Order: sequence, then C-alpha cells, then structure tokens
Amino acid sequence: MVRIAAVGDVHAQVGAVPMLKSGFANIANKADILAIAGDLTAHGKAEEAEVLVYILQDVKVPIVLVLGNHDYHLGEQDKIKGVLVKSGNTVLDGETAVFDVGGYKVGFVGTKGFGGGFGIRALPDFGEQIFREMYREGVREANKIRGGLESLAADFRIVLLHYSPIKDTLFGEPPEVYAFLGASIMAEPIDKLGADLVLHGHAHYGTEKGMTPGGVPVRNVAIPTMGRPYAVYPLIR
Ligand SMILES: [Fe+2]
Ligand SMILES: [Fe+2]
Repeated sequence: MVRIAAVGDVHAQVGAVPMLKSGFANIANKADILAIAGDLTAHGKAEEAEVLVYILQDVKVPIVLVLGNHDYHLGEQDKIKGVLVKSGNTVLDGETAVFDVGGYKVGFVGTKGFGGGFGIRALPDFGEQIFREMYREGVREANKIRGGLESLAADFRIVLLHYSPIKDTLFGEPPEVYAFLGASIMAEPIDKLGADLVLHGHAHYGTEKGMTPGGVPVRNVAIPTMGRPYAVYPLIR
C-alpha cells in the first residue's frame, strides 16, 4: 500500500504561518508522499514561496507540487518554482516524477491545467482570437497530461493538477464559474491512458470526491473544501 497525502490552495502568505505549519507536522507518520495541487501562494509573490518552504520545513516525506493560477499573478512563477526546487521539492509543469515507496514505483504527471468548461458546453475553438487562445491553452495543458501519461512507467500513476478535469468535484461552487475552474478536455487523456488517482484544487467551495467518465477517482483537495490540512488516500495493489 502507498499512502498519498494531498492538499491544494495553501495560499501561503507572510504572517499566516503557525496554524498551517502545525497542520503539516507528523505527516510522515500518516503518508509516504505529499502532493500539493497549486495555489501555493496567496498573491503570486516569490517571498510567499519562501513562507511555504518554512511551513513545509518539518515534512519528512518527498513533496511534489504544481503551480496554480495565483502563483502566476505577478509573473513570478519561475521564481516561485525556483525557491521550491532549491529547497529539494519536485515542481512539475508537464514533467513526470517517480518515487520509490516500499518497493513500489509511484509516478506523478503534474501540470497546472486550465479552464474552458465541460462536455458539450465547453469553450469551442471558434470566434475571436482571444477565446480561441483560451481554447488552445486548454489543449496544451491536456497534451501535457497525455505526454506525461504516455511516458510514465510506474506501479501507481497519479495526475496532479490545479484545475479540475471534471464537473462533479466543483459541486457547491456557483455554476456560473464552472468554466473557469476546469475543463473536461483534460479528462480525455486520463481516461484513454489510465491513472489511479487525479488530484486537483482551485475550487475552494467544491466537493472532495468525484470520478472521470472512465472511472478514475478524482479528489478536490482544496483546503477550504476538505476542511482539514490534508487528506490521505491509500493506493492498493
Ligand atoms: Fe485557490
Ligand atoms: Fe486557483
């Protein structure tokens, strides 16, 4: 068995450390890896990534992360990534990472993802260039998932996102914002190529548990949705 601890939307900021830091204490007793599903910072400042590193200082298991939309807000996403990587964490943007846990290879494909909506009401590749560019960004993110899953050889395969690939885990959010919270185009490569678990955040007032149309479990791990510092999902063969 492999135990994946997961959390999203930490939104680290200067001056809001103590509760979060204690929330992550002793995680090594409960899980083998910590996955963080984006919105690492509150305002996208690189100094907030330093705060996150401090919050995670006592976590004694490998940490794998993706960025969220907040981390792009000031254009400091590369600096944020740099701070986290320099501290020994794995930050994924279309890449894969494999961790050895108790004789198992645990593989992650990670990327931020994007919005665009769901099913027949998803944003089409039509009309003004700015909307078509939004459509293309969703395709690019879906292709990162596809490329990662095609190359990932592991006993367990986990897709780590910020935006949601399904509608079910958004339930609780106003329907008007669903299209800004995720895109079903990202579920297509997941169902075609297979995965054991999909993690995402971004929908603060959504629902924790859902499933892709092909039956892959999806978990919205945004802190406000879960109401706890992190969840632990066991993966069993
Ligand atoms: Fe967030
Ligand atoms: Fe977000």
